[in-house]
Amino acid sequence: MRRFFVIANWKMQVEAEEARELARETVRLWAAQGAANPAVTVAVCPPFASLDEVREEISGTPVSMGGQDCFWESRGAYTGEVSVMSLKDAGCRFCLVGHSERREYLGETDGMVRKKVRALLDTGLIPVVCIGETREERESGRRDAVVIGQLKAILEGNRPIGSQEVIVAYEPRWVIGTGQAVSPEDAASMHQLIYDTLEGMFPSDTVERQFSVIYGGSADAENIGGFLRMPVIDGCLVGKAALSAKGFVRMAEAAADIAKG
Ligand code: PGA
Repeated sequence: MRRFFVIANWKMQVEAEEARELARETVRLWAAQGAANPAVTVAVCPPFASLDEVREEISGTPVSMGGQDCFWESRGAYTGEVSVMSLKDAGCRFCLVGHSERREYLGETDGMVRKKVRALLDTGLIPVVCIGETREERESGRRDAVVIGQLKAILEGNRPIGSQEVIVAYEPRWVIGTGQAVSPEDAASMHQLIYDTLEGMFPSDTVERQFSVIYGGSADAENIGGFLRMPVIDGCLVGKAALSAKGFVRMAEAAADIAKG
């Protein structure tokens, strides 16, 4: 049976009580189905300041939680940063790293993302590594070179060991938040290239058991089926459409239907 990840990125769109409500509603709608569909992992990534509220709503339910970022050092004089251990203590199982908004507004680089991935793996969290090209890079024919360059800079030599897992999120930056996703075929061609590149970096059984590649960028309840029917697309990272619990859970339900075959 196929296994899918449907992960919500709430960005900075909710404050604590709104996050609590959204989590509560997501849990209410997914609880019974999630328990019956272990092939679909549903997770929400709230802002740091709402992690406690969300943890209270999701604990003991089939909804998991992730951070939106982390720092690579475990402790020290790093004002404003959040360690992986404190995310783990707060109840996180996942953490986004290298999101395009952090690359664009905060100067996050592949080198930083690489260190964050290591810190997450070493602490037992699953990194969701975001990579993707800008419109200009796409239009100048550099999509593959840019995305594969990011993948290699972040993951080469950064091998997941034991039962460590890595999720790669391919997000064409120019469609994020636009309501206009790329086609499933377009995404699938990139996912295939990502898988081929991973096969060149790690043993095949490592890639098969420890890596997943999900799509992000205006994914919603209408288009998710097209993406997940592609054998190389293992789930979706969802921004805007996840701010409606109903819409988001419909996406998880679509994943459950496809997983059943
Ligand atoms: P979007 O955001 O679904 O609103 O395009 C996705 C993301 O930024 O991860």
